[in-house]
Amino acid sequence: MTLTIEPTGAGLGARVRGVDLRDLSDADFTRLHRAWLDHQVLVFEDQDLSVEDQMGFASRLGPLERVRTAADHAVAGGAAMYVANRRVDGKEGVLPEGEMLFHTDQCYYEEPCQATLLYAIEVPAVGGDTLFADAYGAFATLDRELRDRLWGLRALNVYDYAGNPTGAGGAGAGGEPDPDAPRAVHPVVIRHPVTGRPALYVNRLMTVRLLDTDPDESAALLGRLFDHQEQDRFVYHHRWRPGDLVLWDNRCVLHARTAFDPAARRILRRVTVRGERPVAAAPAPS
Ligand code: OGA
Ligand code: MN
Repeated sequence: MTLTIEPTGAGLGARVRGVDLRDLSDADFTRLHRAWLDHQVLVFEDQDLSVEDQMGFASRLGPLERVRTAADHAVAGGAAMYVANRRVDGKEGVLPEGEMLFHTDQCYYEEPCQATLLYAIEVPAVGGDTLFADAYGAFATLDRELRDRLWGLRALNVYDYAGNPTGAGGAGAGGEPDPDAPRAVHPVVIRHPVTGRPALYVNRLMTVRLLDTDPDESAALLGRLFDHQEQDRFVYHHRWRPGDLVLWDNRCVLHARTAFDPAARRILRRVTVRGERPVAAAPAPS
């Protein structure tokens, strides 16, 4: 098999062909790792992966992150779980239904995961697609004046699914999030620890407010940033097929999910790779 990497043609992402993730040479892994840093999202089709296979591939990127928020949903010793609307292996799935707004995984923890790997087992005929948005591109295309306003600002991110039917702790939700919900403050513009590139690190689902600004400016700025970062030009729209494994970089990619019929079975398996505390980006010297 010859490994090929073909850009999706959308704002980000590439399709990888000619590879079996159960049996990946070090040389091929090195190529994939480079391609992942370049394209931010990699799509592998027609994979046949057990949970151990999926964890094995993920752990080549770094130590696996334990399931933290939904620990009782974890399988395989704590590092995997099902995003599913059916029970799998005796476990309830998480995020079983509905649309999900754009977000990055675990931004409400001090140390969010660097990578998420989602593997499709059963998917609806229509809907339940996952959208991926380029957070480097979003930052780079902001007006100069707005970019200059953002350097050094921090944002509060909260995970409050229970308290809001849209699953949001975000600014659009109105009201105050649950005081016990997991939360973390992170820079609005982060520096990717490997590529060094600046990325816009706020999202409509979980970013509640900007610190270091008054509430009116916070709401106005966040509204502008959310609308900007979700434009189609930054998005790759993934329609799942069983056997797809998608790997994305939470340090420079947002993702969202489209609605689907709750009667249709949707079962995906998720593994995440531990990350570092996000660091603020600084303007390039001029
Ligand atoms: C996730 C997630 C989207 C989906 O697992 O973090 O956001 O399409 N999933 O189910
Ligand atoms: Mn997610």
